Amino acid sequence: MTLYFGIDIGGTSIKSAVVTDTGEILHKQSIETHPKIGIQDVCEKLKGVLLESLSAVDHTYDEVAGVGVGLPGYLDIEHGVIINLPNIGWRNIPFRDVAERVFNLPIVMDNDANLAAVGEAWLGAGRGASTMVLTTVGTGIGGGIVLNQRLHRGANTMAGEFGHMTVDRNGYQCHCGKHGCLETVASATAMIRRAKELQLAGQIPYDVVINGADDIFDLDQNGIAAARQVIHEAAHWLGYGLSLVATTINPDMIIVGGGVSKAGDSLLSPIVESFTKYSLPLISQVATIRLAGLGNDAGVIGAAYMVSQAIDS
Ligand code: BGC
Ligand code: NA
Ligand code: ZN
Repeated sequence: MTLYFGIDIGGTSIKSAVVTDTGEILHKQSIETHPKIGIQDVCEKLKGVLLESLSAVDHTYDEVAGVGVGLPGYLDIEHGVIINLPNIGWRNIPFRDVAERVFNLPIVMDNDANLAAVGEAWLGAGRGASTMVLTTVGTGIGGGIVLNQRLHRGANTMAGEFGHMTVDRNGYQCHCGKHGCLETVASATAMIRRAKELQLAGQIPYDVVINGADDIFDLDQNGIAAARQVIHEAAHWLGYGLSLVATTINPDMIIVGGGVSKAGDSLLSPIVESFTKYSLPLISQVATIRLAGLGNDAGVIGAAYMVSQAIDS
């Protein structure tokens, strides 16, 4: 059986899955991201994960035809080099060479959100869309653009860096070095910062531990108004950011993915409201906004698809 190993490296966790050529996940695992560990060690750890996954589902290494890797930042894909992953701090790393040596398999790398967009276009909410954009909301905010089922990378793979659109010129400093990027007000990281502010102000019980966006969604489910406020503020910015994107490319499908999409409708409906408010009616009318159909698996599935295509051609 031909299998692919899809990897989605994020700011907080590294997700991976053994995927078939029809996009079925046979086994998946998630490990923590440790920014201080070198890339060689990360690759070796992931090879261990692959071996473990394979044996869990009774398959062997020689069935694996290639490895697709999504990386959360700026890449020189032609040379296989990581230029900068702003939310992890890895810079100037000859990633593909290292990964090829460790896995001894063809390696395809791309931006994490690009691969999530590819996954959604293949098997998720983006099937059949002509002009699709996806945003991933997690530690950072990513984006991917798929035009007529083809990933649009732009001149140097930077197309879709929606997280670094400046939305507040006097805002917080971003990991990219600029101020007031969308990511500084609407990512999971931003939501956690905001929730902690409201907790200090006494609006969230002081004994609640806020480690991740999930904790905020739980508080919202438990009727804590300040948690709802945090979600609404982030959703407002996301809707605004997406309206700028939509005004530029006039999509028929907009997909919201990443860890934060777990919040479901409590996040999506205020996004739609804000998006509609800031968009021209002729643009918002045709743009369906949906949560990622593949959920947080979009990235690993897109990674598997991308490497399968690269091997085929
Ligand atoms: C990076 C993007 C990435 C996104 C999500 C942003 O900070 O610039 O390349 O897609 O985070 O991981
Ligand atoms: Na991207
Ligand atoms: Zn930025």
